[in-house]
Amino acid sequence: MADDGSSATRQRWVDEARGFVSRDAFVSEEIFRLEIERIFGRCWVLLAHESEIPEPGDYVVRDLGGARVIVVRDGEIRALLNSCRHRGTELCRADQGNARHFVCPYHGWSYRRDGKLITTVYDRHMPQDAAFSELGLIPVPRVENYKGLIFGCWDADVVPLPRYLGDFAWYLDAFFARTPRGMEVLAPPHRWRTKANWKLGALNFIGDNQHVLTTHAGPTTLDPIRSAQAGLFTPGKDSVQLITDEGHGCTLTYLKEDLPEKYYQTHAPELEPLYAQTLKPDQLAMLRRLRVAVGNVFPNFSFIEATVGIGQKAVIIRQWQPVGATEMEILSWVLAERETTPEYKQHVLKAGFRLFGMAGVFEQDDLTIWASAIAASDNPVARRYPFGFQTALPYLDHPATDFAGPGRAWRPIETEVVQFEFMRRWERVMLSNR
Ligand code: FES
Ligand SMILES: [Fe+2]
Repeated sequence: MADDGSSATRQRWVDEARGFVSRDAFVSEEIFRLEIERIFGRCWVLLAHESEIPEPGDYVVRDLGGARVIVVRDGEIRALLNSCRHRGTELCRADQGNARHFVCPYHGWSYRRDGKLITTVYDRHMPQDAAFSELGLIPVPRVENYKGLIFGCWDADVVPLPRYLGDFAWYLDAFFARTPRGMEVLAPPHRWRTKANWKLGALNFIGDNQHVLTTHAGPTTLDPIRSAQAGLFTPGKDSVQLITDEGHGCTLTYLKEDLPEKYYQTHAPELEPLYAQTLKPDQLAMLRRLRVAVGNVFPNFSFIEATVGIGQKAVIIRQWQPVGATEMEILSWVLAERETTPEYKQHVLKAGFRLFGMAGVFEQDDLTIWASAIAASDNPVARRYPFGFQTALPYLDHPATDFAGPGRAWRPIETEVVQFEFMRRWERVMLSNR
């Protein structure tokens, strides 16, 4: 392994035999530039949830591979580069809003919501044969909606979104499309930055089950309720971590057995019939008594389904937007089923942000640690020594044989097998020349 990123396109970063991953993958700006091209330029990336832009003209501004794009409802949902074709000025300055047209604040070029240029204000000075049709806003070539989740991709030749999600759609359905009307985003996302590589977030959510009791020792020991819950979290024999062939994975944590019955009431009883209408029996069985699910869709769309009260579940979407090798922007949304009451939604929203928002109880712990890991790694000495994933090795070739859901699954959940598989997938995409 090299001690810097200078051979970014030639070397391997994952040492499969010894369970190491080069630190360069987490601090090198050269590798980061390659990620923007090969990962964020070629993979499907989450842009928004359709409930954020319900009306014609509603838009949100999001990041797609380092570029800001306007995600707008105009009949269909489109995504357009947020940059004027004249001198590049941003059309939308606000994170979200409603627009009839997009008018540039610099010289006034105006665009329709489908991106077409309407006027330059000085059309009379344009050449007779000026092709306005070629001066529209740059569209994201592929935008697709999977059950309310809007994804975009800069690569026009990417596989269709359902194929990209592959077997993991089975899990996404159970968390994001389990009632007839589906999920709803309850408030604009929290958005903040931290000095850490985006993959630390993805790894944490796809299967870092070793960090909970140390990183989150504060909230799990100081608060008497949480302290009691820490006991409940001792993984039951059903708990499992898994990953699909497409590189998407999650951990499903079930309660231990022999607890008082109320602890097993993880979903609202009134939602059960709606789930039964929408999901298959094996998906319903997966959700039953599930205490926490936490996962990641490759590359940077994470989610948590957490119990926030008896019969109350919050579904959180997390996104780790790459800003630089050592900086990311984090977005956090809270969702609930559209069919639930306003009071239920309000409770879930408050509890969701209290735990997983910008100032959330768990968030503060993780951010400090991730920034510290990057700060201590971003120097020539530390970069000679790779990160260790050794607890993956004894398990890699021994997945659980009795797990019914899609993907390769492992027990127990406190090994790094899924995190290591994520890094192997990341390396395959980075090395692929397609
Ligand atoms: S930069 Fe947009 S109109 Fe000139
Ligand atoms: Fe955490």
